[in-house]
Amino acid sequence: MLLEVRDLHVEFHTRDGIAKAVNGVNYSVDSGETLAVLGESGSGKSVTAQAVMGILDMPPGRITSGEILFQGQDLLKLKEEERRKVRGAKMAMIFQDALSSLNPVLSVGEQLGEMFVVHQGMSKKDARAQAVELMDRVRIPAAKERVGQYPHQFSGGMRQRIMIAMALALEPELIIADEPTTALDVTVQAQVMDLLAELQREYNMGLILITHDLGVVADVADNIAVMYAGRIVEKAPVHEIYKAPAHPYTRGLLDSIPRLDQKGQELYAIKGLPPNLLAIPPGCAFNPRCPMAQDVCRTDVPPLYEVTESPVPRSSACHFWKECLHG
Ligand SMILES: Nc1ncnc2c1ncn2[C@@H]1O[C@H](COP(=O)(O)OP(=O)(O)OP(=O)(O)O)[C@@H](O)[C@H]1O
Ligand SMILES: [Mg+2]
Repeated sequence: MLLEVRDLHVEFHTRDGIAKAVNGVNYSVDSGETLAVLGESGSGKSVTAQAVMGILDMPPGRITSGEILFQGQDLLKLKEEERRKVRGAKMAMIFQDALSSLNPVLSVGEQLGEMFVVHQGMSKKDARAQAVELMDRVRIPAAKERVGQYPHQFSGGMRQRIMIAMALALEPELIIADEPTTALDVTVQAQVMDLLAELQREYNMGLILITHDLGVVADVADNIAVMYAGRIVEKAPVHEIYKAPAHPYTRGLLDSIPRLDQKGQELYAIKGLPPNLLAIPPGCAFNPRCPMAQDVCRTDVPPLYEVTESPVPRSSACHFWKECLHG
């Protein structure tokens, strides 16, 4: 397994108390696999990713327990210097907002080239040639002419391609893309997503794709992990989840996708608000919003049950996964 996150807990010390942002996350991704991580705002998707990358704000953040195994090695046990070598060379992250991730006063060629100068000791001239090649790979037209231009001279979609190029530069084994297309308009979103999926296949990388967008997920992901209040509530191959979710929260997410064949109908929305991470409800964190909740849901935290009826491995943290699956 390329990456395995085991029972990860992260909290933030805030003025109002301790916010439990990640509460026992387990997920894994293999080479060549795309894992989509879904969930409402505040469910801990980014914080988990930041912990994996080693870029969590500490303080106020604190990893209180868990393991992050990368190629079998626990990253949480590495010294910062060793950690830095892994980051960039072996794993890379793509963020939503390319403009604030790129340096406005350096040309894109210099920024791309810097990866090779710093990590591989390449000469500036060779690094520039590599930068042009990378820009070609992510299909920036006229790369040779544009390599000296600055980030603001590129469109949003092109800037996101440059971010992808930066992430790919050192041919990492794992890429984490945190809502990589959210800031783009719909057509450009699809192009950037296709490009990312294609490069991922070509390089046989593991890809963790964080998104709100279930539409995107269906096309590119192999597996889905759904997060709620800092936990994984359902994990399954993408097609299984679309056929029949085994968690009421996943069902709610699926029901809230607009569908062309139901034009004019009111869009379903999951009732209630995401939980307050300073005071997560006892039992199942989703119980106050769950249409299926029973007494046990208000007292007992559901473990991640194996969905035994499934021919492929999948799991659900719902006491009533069976009812949900058939409901
Ligand atoms: N630096 C920080 N200091 C304090 N709290 C933080 C910090 N970073 C994240 N949090 C809290 O951790 C929780 C989880 O945040 P996270 O960014 O992982 O959510 P998310 O699932 O990525 O949401 P979104 O879809 O909006 O990006 C949130 O309640 C957030 O306020
Ligand atoms: Mg986020």
